[in-house]
Amino acid sequence: MRLILLGPPGAGKGTQAKVLCGQWGIPQISTGDMLRDAKKAGTLLGVQAADYMNRGLLVPDDVVIGLVDERLMQPDALKGFLLDGFPRTVPQAEALDDLLKKRGLAIDAVVQLSVPTDLLMERAVLRRTDKRTGQIYHLKYNPPPLGAELEHRADDQPETVRKRLDEYEAMTAALLPFYEAKRLLRRVDGTLPPSDVTREILRVLGQQA
Ligand code: AP5
Repeated sequence: MRLILLGPPGAGKGTQAKVLCGQWGIPQISTGDMLRDAKKAGTLLGVQAADYMNRGLLVPDDVVIGLVDERLMQPDALKGFLLDGFPRTVPQAEALDDLLKKRGLAIDAVVQLSVPTDLLMERAVLRRTDKRTGQIYHLKYNPPPLGAELEHRADDQPETVRKRLDEYEAMTAALLPFYEAKRLLRRVDGTLPPSDVTREILRVLGQQA
């Protein structure tokens, strides 16, 4: 399976990616996680990316395309992969097509998680992640267990989330007609409880839950 999970900030891409990748035994390729790792490691890439991420802006296309190109060359991506948060612009989507074509591959499907904007804000602002396990929680909808080492993402402050939502509308929403024209787009209601969202994703992909 070579799948893209598409959706605005807080739509549940990371939550669903973890479940699906666990089930299918394929890697989750999250450009957001890769950039945050680079930021934590203090690499030049991380320092440059942080400047965009902290302001809620997209990191330049050539930077993320380079990251994904390198990641897709790792042996674990040969059997399939789930892209979470990439592509995010039409030039990124075109570059991805080229990268895959060179390897004789193509995307099987693009799943869009739809969630209304007012819910997205609450989801992002109350999100907490366990530093040790990477598990995603929500203070209201999926409270963390006692003892979890919680992290609040720097870009989950209301002002930054608002900017990220604007960036989604301005840059990423254009991917919906792009993939619709290729007949790859499948839409799923992301407001359902997480396990129902997983079931819906499997259903639109023609797979058994
Ligand atoms: P990235 O890390 O990709 O963030 P994002 O796309 O904004 O998405 P989020 O991680 O905020 O949300 P999600 O959809 O994964 O939701 P989650 O499952 O956590 O990118 C961060 C930044 O990096 C960007 O702003 C940009 O600067 C840069 N970047 C990354 N990729 C880039 C690219 N390709 N090009 C350029 N720049 C790039 O869920 C959210 C919350 O809701 C959680 O608390 C969760 O528990 C809860 N939740 C999830 N599902 C449900 C449900 N069904 N019901 C109730 N609660 C739920």
